Amino acid sequence: MHGHAHPRIAGAIGRQAARLEHVLLAGFTHEPVERLAEELRRVAPAPLEHIFFSDDGSTAVEVALKMAVQFWRNSGQPAKTEIVALEHGYHGDTAGAMSVSDDSLFTAAFAAMRFPVRRAHSAYCYRCPVGLKRETCHIECGDSLERILQERGGQTAAIIVEPLLQGAGGMIVHPVEYLQRLRALATKYNVLLIADEVLTGFGRCGRMFATELAGVAPDLMCLSKGLTGGFLPMGATLATHDVYESFSGPEPERAFWHGHSYTGNPISCAAAVANLEIFRTEPVFELIAAIAAIHSERLPAVARHPGVGDVRSIGTVAAIELRADDAGYLSSLRPKLYRFFLEREVLLRPLGNVIYILPPYCIEPRDLNHIYDVIEEGIRPQ
Ligand SMILES: Cc1ncc(COP(=O)(O)O)c(C=O)c1O
Repeated sequence: MHGHAHPRIAGAIGRQAARLEHVLLAGFTHEPVERLAEELRRVAPAPLEHIFFSDDGSTAVEVALKMAVQFWRNSGQPAKTEIVALEHGYHGDTAGAMSVSDDSLFTAAFAAMRFPVRRAHSAYCYRCPVGLKRETCHIECGDSLERILQERGGQTAAIIVEPLLQGAGGMIVHPVEYLQRLRALATKYNVLLIADEVLTGFGRCGRMFATELAGVAPDLMCLSKGLTGGFLPMGATLATHDVYESFSGPEPERAFWHGHSYTGNPISCAAAVANLEIFRTEPVFELIAAIAAIHSERLPAVARHPGVGDVRSIGTVAAIELRADDAGYLSSLRPKLYRFFLEREVLLRPLGNVIYILPPYCIEPRDLNHIYDVIEEGIRPQ
């Protein structure tokens, strides 16, 4: 996130490893986890006061799904167990995260392990599922969710969404109005909103969290990836006080029976605290704004290439969707482009026919411009 081996994070890891490498976060606590909880509360959307630590993005999602279902059970509404998700969503590779992810090559072998999920349209305006104009098509996508909730709201525990940017599903950027509508519908139909900010969190989309850009607060939020600045695996699921409260009480069945051996590992916590200190004390958001400005400068010319169908960007992320007869993750363009870029010493991993740039925040403008030059060379008609 801040480039390899940032000395502040590397130093924090070394100091913490020499002090306390681990203690099970059950009945015990430790200073790094207390500090991290405090720092996360400072940056997170206001209602998300409570934090449950886990190991990675997938487990942060599992925790959110399980919390949502048990929240309703603890609140005397045990029928609310279903999850609604979006087309093109990706939430991880464990069984629950795979269930809420859209059907794909990644999930094909595991159909028997996935629980059923209803799916609303994703506001993938370039490939509008109902063939509408870009400016208005998200309204129909929101309506598709409303139809599901009208029918199944009484059985639905939560809707899960990658806010504003669906990552592995094709770097699809949603209009803010769509996320705002999801929030409004979740409230209207008494369903929890889970924001999976595993990819979008920690500045990726231009603000600390993508939900901020739409001015909405979720009931549960999943974090990982950038949490430790990319040094160590760690997940966190943030919850509102209402959700938290439903789990407290003397009855053992109210408790959240979920815990991983390395939950709240002190070394990971120290890395995450150092990462948040970097955000607080270094001009990270200026670097992020400079990356976004280069995307805005360079993408219009890329969009004019005859092979380009769509370009999209949000914050530090830019995506170029190429026209392809075999569009999708297995597009024959992927291996050719991947090799072409690597031969020029640029590491880009196209999602099939979608090339995307997701740079570290410390990238120099000349390096980012060089990446664009190589991409333009790669997509030029032969
Ligand atoms: C939005 C989103 N959620 C969840 C995950 C899963 O995270 P992990 O790979 O750490 O399990 C990812 C990973 O790419 C992701 O992009």
